[in-house]
Amino acid sequence: MRKKIYTYESDEIKVTYDLNRCIHARECVQGLNKVFDPQKRPWIQPENARGDEIADVIETCPTGALHYEMKTSDRVEKSSSKNRIQLTQDGPVYFFGDLEVRNHEGSTVLKDTRFALCRCGASTNKPACDNSHEKIEWKAGADADKSKMPEIEEEKHDKLIIKLMKNGPAILEGSYTMESASIGEHTSDKGVALCRCGASSTKPFCDGTHKEIGFEG
Ligand code: SF4
Ligand code: FES
Repeated sequence: MRKKIYTYESDEIKVTYDLNRCIHARECVQGLNKVFDPQKRPWIQPENARGDEIADVIETCPTGALHYEMKTSDRVEKSSSKNRIQLTQDGPVYFFGDLEVRNHEGSTVLKDTRFALCRCGASTNKPACDNSHEKIEWKAGADADKSKMPEIEEEKHDKLIIKLMKNGPAILEGSYTMESASIGEHTSDKGVALCRCGASSTKPFCDGTHKEIGFEG
């Protein structure tokens, strides 16, 4: 996963922006346009708002492209109280929580509180989404077969590990609440395999099609 990090500072806050993980979800632009404005240069101007206002908006960035360090307060970014997985229509899987992405050898690729996993198979910045699903006009619903994820009463406050299999799916380890408009909220700790090649007939789960299509990633 490539990184291209830019830094913007005011007296109160240091904002970092990873161009390669931004997919123009626009939560920042809609949340605080006087700071995040693509029509201006630089496009992030942290001196135009209070540090805590900017931090609130940064914590809504679903891809983890934006992060902050406060200079004048103790505030640090916390992960959401439970690990949440949001399925998006025709787009990536968003993760929020205490997240660790590992490669097939078990090495840590990323630790973060927010992450957008490519599930169309076309991103040039795998495992992260880079908006390629729009270019290839990839289609997928935001639903899931809940019977594949036996429900648990309450989610444990554990880390969610997203383990990337070579040329295959991402395996979840830990508990999570999967959310979408069609399934509502469903909490499980089943170690399901999420399709990354884009071709499974049982999306968002892997059905082995990645082998047939020679998926690389
Ligand atoms: S919220 Fe994050 S992903 Fe969306 S436009 Fe802003 S920086 Fe990019
Ligand atoms: S990763 Fe897509 S079917 Fe397995």
